[in-house]
Amino acid sequence: MTQTYEEMDAIAMLKADHRKVEDLFEKFESARGKDRKQALAEEACLELKVHTLIEEEIFYPACRGEIDDADLNEAYVEHDAAKLLINEIERGGPDEAFYDAKVKVLSEMIEHHVKEEERYSEGLFAQAREAGLDMGDLADRMRARRRDAMAQLKGHPEIPAETRTFQGDDIESALADEPLSPARPADDLAALR
Ligand SMILES: [Fe+2]
Ligand SMILES: [Fe+2]
Repeated sequence: MTQTYEEMDAIAMLKADHRKVEDLFEKFESARGKDRKQALAEEACLELKVHTLIEEEIFYPACRGEIDDADLNEAYVEHDAAKLLINEIERGGPDEAFYDAKVKVLSEMIEHHVKEEERYSEGLFAQAREAGLDMGDLADRMRARRRDAMAQLKGHPEIPAETRTFQGDDIESALADEPLSPARPADDLAALR
């Protein structure tokens, strides 16, 4: 029996997000028309913006102190590196010489990151499961945040993904895993451009 997204626990829903993004990158590879390519790339970017947000605001903070600290810190930096490309892809378009290359490199970065999260027995998710985190509660909170973030970001590729761990970011707060911009209205974000 297949579970619906609403019924999944935290790890199952995060893995389902991973499969969805992998599928979009695969479709991008074989897509031909420019509009189709851009639509697929933007959908992947949107999914990744929302996925990194719910992990950083809810799942990763719950892991802090429960799993390997270095693994968790690397996950944040991998997200941030991916966000630079995500913002770049969303600002650009398929007429650009390096557009396809940017999407390909992003897909490779995500492939690596997903492996780190899903790796058998030592991955982030396995460590979180082993630590006994409440996966039902985390799933409910992530689903709620996902809905809000989707409502805010869908159709707005101009709203950039925010990094947490780079120079100029509020790194102290990122290490404490506090939400950087909880429920900031879309208008405010658009004004930041
Ligand atoms: Fe993930
Ligand atoms: Fe992640």
